[in-house]
Amino acid sequence: MGPLAVTQILALISLTVALDNGLLKTPPMGWMAWERFRCDIDCKDDPENCISEDLFRDTADRLAEDGWKELGYEYIIVDDCWMSMLRDEHGRLQPEPSRFPGGIAKLARYIHDRGLKLGIYADMGTHTCMGFPGTTLDKIEIDAQTFASWGVDYLKFDGCYSNPVEQILGYPRMSKALNATGRPMAYSCSLPVYVGGLPPNVNYSFLGDICHLWRNYYDIQDSWDSVQGIIEWFSNNQDDLQPAAGPGRWNDPDMLIIGNFGLSVDQARSQMALWAIMAAPLIMSNDLRNLDNSARAILQNKVAIAINQDPMGIQGRRLLQEKNRIEVYWRPLSHSASALVFLSRRTDMPYLYHTSLAKLKYDAGNYEAYDVFTGSTVTGLNATTQLTFSINPSGVVMWYIYPEKQSRQRETLHYQNKKASQLTSHKAKPGHLTVL
Ligand SMILES: *[C@@H]1O[C@H](CO)[C@@H](O)[C@H](O)[C@H]1NC(C)=O
Ligand SMILES: *[C@@H]1O[C@H](CO)[C@@H](O)[C@H](O)[C@H]1NC(C)=O
Ligand SMILES: *[C@@H]1O[C@H](CO)[C@@H](O)[C@H](O)[C@H]1NC(C)=O
Repeated sequence: MGPLAVTQILALISLTVALDNGLLKTPPMGWMAWERFRCDIDCKDDPENCISEDLFRDTADRLAEDGWKELGYEYIIVDDCWMSMLRDEHGRLQPEPSRFPGGIAKLARYIHDRGLKLGIYADMGTHTCMGFPGTTLDKIEIDAQTFASWGVDYLKFDGCYSNPVEQILGYPRMSKALNATGRPMAYSCSLPVYVGGLPPNVNYSFLGDICHLWRNYYDIQDSWDSVQGIIEWFSNNQDDLQPAAGPGRWNDPDMLIIGNFGLSVDQARSQMALWAIMAAPLIMSNDLRNLDNSARAILQNKVAIAINQDPMGIQGRRLLQEKNRIEVYWRPLSHSASALVFLSRRTDMPYLYHTSLAKLKYDAGNYEAYDVFTGSTVTGLNATTQLTFSINPSGVVMWYIYPEKQSRQRETLHYQNKKASQLTSHKAKPGHLTVL
């Protein structure tokens, strides 16, 4: 039996996709404006980058035409700064007419016509974080109805300019109001960020009952420092956060910044790898009209995406923090498979890390592994096989690993699964892995 092709691995992972149509049974995937485009409202001097319907239409075209949609990147999410400073004569929010002359309902149709979904932004409070009209308690129902009437599919509900009492009343009330519209909408809650992100201030089991996902921690910025800080906070608090996640309820460490200015290729792979391990939403914030090929390859890595979208929806954990500044992350996956990520927090040179599956608490038995970023496959592993990885500074090695006895079964599954067999295979690059 030869090593498995990537198509066979994908076939195996995709076979158990949940059948019921509940929302966000796997983490949402898509694109959001904020990290890259912020509150740029200067359409006169910066028409390409300002928050306007053109930006969202252009991005919808790219998602639909450049292979993103087929991979699952389906939500296109407007963040702050889309609104007019005034509600209309009926008290409804309205878009700023100079930047959204067609209105949101028309933009939603444009996006739906391309097989995509529209997300929008509002804020529980007197103002949005950037000072646009907020959604006070008395405005929750009318705003939910307005969004539904426009054909919105996802709401990010921020929490600037409100107090904890308003927040604890407002977030569940919006959940009810969205449900009452009869239009299925995904609901992203920023509540945890505003109350410290941890129990006892946040009851994650309650939050999971009312929201599909939630922002736990500070906004991501375009730097490796920011990505590292987020990974560290989520891992340091994984005992509280990891059990909160599952199908329909996700921790959100914030957007993917891959393709912008702050990350090297290794760091971009590290963000993709850790977001897959953490079962995090894969919501890019970048300029899809101008994306280099290495960023595209990382964001479109089918096995990293399949790991992120595993139907069991179990968030992974940091297993080890070594004195040598190598960290090991692990996520259990369907069909007795798992993902391992070896992250280097070093700043010197590629580091040779020695380990074995037994040291990582794997059971005795025979395994095979697929190296997610090089495309090489490693066969004939058992728990005591000595493994040596060369891990670049601030980079990762990421493995999809599965018991060897499943190989034959997997090949059969492959031929049954048309969808996965249409996916093209990764081009194998020289491996940075040796098995001694
Ligand atoms: C509203 O909530 C009920 C009960 O959880 C659920 O069955 C239904 O699908 C929800 N409807 C919408 C539109 O969210
Ligand atoms: C958290 O919320 C759940 C409801 O989802 C409730 O059963 C539980 O008692 C709450 N825990 C605390 C500590 O308040
Ligand atoms: C595990 O694999 C190594 C080679 O990597 C081999 O020497 C050893 O005998 C194997 N152990 C078992 C229990 O199969």
